[in-house]
Amino acid sequence: MAQIITYVTFICLTIFSIGLYANDDQKINIDEETKTVKPSYKSPIVSGFAYLTEDFDNEERFKNNWILSEAKKEGIDADIAKYDGVWAVEPPKLHAQAGDLGLVLKSKARHAAISTLLTKPIFFEDDPIVIQYEVNFQEGQECGGAYLKLLTLDQEDLKKFHDKTPYTIMFGPDKCGNDHHLHFIFRHKNPLNGTIEEKHAKKPKERLEDFFKDKQPHLYTLILRPDNTFEIKVDNKIVNSGSLLDDFTPPVNPSLEIEDPHDVMPEDWDDREKIPDPLAVKPDDWDEDAPAQIIDEDDKMPDGWLEHEPPMIPNPESIKPDDWDVEMDGEWEPPSTPNPVCADAPGCGPYQQKMKKNPKYKGKWLPPLVNNPNYKGKWKPKLIHNPNYFNDEHPFRMMPIYAIGFELWSMSPDIQFDNIIITNNVQVAKKWADETFEAKRLKIAEETWSVWRQVATFTAENPWIWAVYTLAAGIPVILLVYCCCFPSEDKEKEEYNYEEKDLLNTLDGDENLTNEGIENEAEDSNENAETNADIDEEAEKDSESEEASNLESTKDDVPLAGGDGPRRRKPNKE
Ligand SMILES: *[C@@H]1O[C@H](CO)[C@@H](O)[C@H](O)[C@H]1NC(C)=O
Repeated sequence: MAQIITYVTFICLTIFSIGLYANDDQKINIDEETKTVKPSYKSPIVSGFAYLTEDFDNEERFKNNWILSEAKKEGIDADIAKYDGVWAVEPPKLHAQAGDLGLVLKSKARHAAISTLLTKPIFFEDDPIVIQYEVNFQEGQECGGAYLKLLTLDQEDLKKFHDKTPYTIMFGPDKCGNDHHLHFIFRHKNPLNGTIEEKHAKKPKERLEDFFKDKQPHLYTLILRPDNTFEIKVDNKIVNSGSLLDDFTPPVNPSLEIEDPHDVMPEDWDDREKIPDPLAVKPDDWDEDAPAQIIDEDDKMPDGWLEHEPPMIPNPESIKPDDWDVEMDGEWEPPSTPNPVCADAPGCGPYQQKMKKNPKYKGKWLPPLVNNPNYKGKWKPKLIHNPNYFNDEHPFRMMPIYAIGFELWSMSPDIQFDNIIITNNVQVAKKWADETFEAKRLKIAEETWSVWRQVATFTAENPWIWAVYTLAAGIPVILLVYCCCFPSEDKEKEEYNYEEKDLLNTLDGDENLTNEGIENEAEDSNENAETNADIDEEAEKDSESEEASNLESTKDDVPLAGGDGPRRRKPNKE
C-alpha cells in the first residue's frame, strides 16, 4: 500500500510540474502581451452626458462630493439607531489594479448611509434613464442589501439621509437567508389624492444566488424608457424586463370596477353544489355497531408460553430501607423485576389472542352525495365602479430625482461599490461599462484561468502529454494488481522501502533535482506508453539507476527546467 501511495504522489507531482512548466512558458507571452497591448488601469472617461459618474478613484473628489449621514433611525434602540457604519475608499481585496479604487462598506450590523448630489436633477421627460453600478460582495452576503436609492427632489439636507428619506427609485441586490432579491421599486404618486405608494417589480426568473456568494464584481443595470418599459441586466445579461403598467405589485392603476363592499349574500342563497341524497336509505344488513377489530379465534398460544408464571416478580434482592416508616410511607413492597424464568420463554402470564380485522365492519352509514337541484352557484358581491379609479398612462414620469445614496444594513462586511453612472443614454452607459467593468472582468478571468488555460494550451501543443495523463490514471491500478497477485517477499519489501525513503528524500530535498526527476519520469512513461507490456517490468526495475542515467539525456530536451525553477519565477508575475 505504501508503494502505491508513493507512486500516486509521484505521478501527481509529475502532472503538477508539467503544469508549472506550461504556465511558465505561456506566462512570458502573456506578460509581454499585457505590456504592449493593454496599458495599466486608467480611470474611465464618460463618453457623453451623465447626471452622475463616480469611479471612486479620486479620494479627494470623493471626500468633497459624498456626504456621510449623521441621522438616527427612528423607533429603535438608541445604541443601534445611529448611522455610524464605516465607509472607505480602497482597492478590491482580490485582483486589484493600481489606481482602481471603490467605495467599501467596511462595517457590519450597523446602519450606514452616504449620498451625493447629481450634477443635474432628473426630470423624467423624453429621454430614457439608465442607472448602472458595480457591487462586489467581497465576503459574500449573509443578510443585507447593496441597493442604490435615487432620492426625490425635495431640498432635503443629505446629512439627514435616513431610511425614511423620500426616494423615487430603489434599485439593486438584497438578500437575507435564502431570500434573494434584485429590487426595482419606484414610488408612485396617486394623481387623485397625492398619496405615494411603493410599486415593486415582479421577481426576476433568473437565479440570483451566485451574485451574492461568488465574491466577484457584478454589474447591475436598470434602463427605464419613456414608453414605460424597463429592463434589468446583471453583467449585461437581461434578467428582468416588462412594463411599469403591467409588471408591478400593487399595479400602478387600480381596477375600474370593484366588488361592492356593502353587498351581502341573500339568506335563501343555496351555494351547496352537492347534497346528501334525500332518497337514499340505509341497507338492512348495514351494522353500524360492528367493531373494526375482533379477536382472532385461530390464534393459538405459542408453545412454551408459561401461563402460570407472572412476567414481573418482586425483586428478591431488594431490602426494605432502614428509615422506612410504615405509618408515613405505607406498607413496603419490593420493586418489581422481570421474572427470570420468562427470559427464555416466548411469554408469561395469561395469554391473550391477537386481534384481526372484522370482515363485517362497515362503520357509520352515510347517504351518497347528489347534485343539489337548488344550487345557485357561488355567490359573489356585485361589481360597482371603483370610486378611487384613475388611469395614469405615464408612470415613467416619476417624481424628480436630485441625489443618490446608499442607505444600508448588512450582516457581512466589505461590500464594494464601483463605477456608478446615471445617464440618459444607453450607449454612454455601455461604453462606461466596457471601460470599467468589462476590463476588470477580463483581467480577473485572465488571472483566474491562466494556469488552467496554459496547461490546456501546453497539452494541445504537446499531444504526447496524454500518454502521461493515461499512465497517471493507469499506474495505481497496475500497481494494485501487481501487489495483489505477487505478494512481495521480505527481501523485496526491504528493497522497496529503501527506494521509497530515497524517493521521499529526493522530494523533500533539492527542488530543482525533483523537477528534473519528475520530468524524467514523464519521459519514461511516454516511452513506455507504446509498449504497455513493459510497465510491470518497469515497476519492478530499480528505477534509481535509470533515473540517474536519464537525467542527462533529458536535461537538454527540456531547456525550461533550468536552475531558476518555475516556482521561484512565479512571484514576478504581479
Ligand atoms: C388615496 O387613495 C387610495 C386609494 O386609491 C387610498 O388607499 C388612500 O388612503 C387615499 N389617501 C388619502 C389621503 O385619501
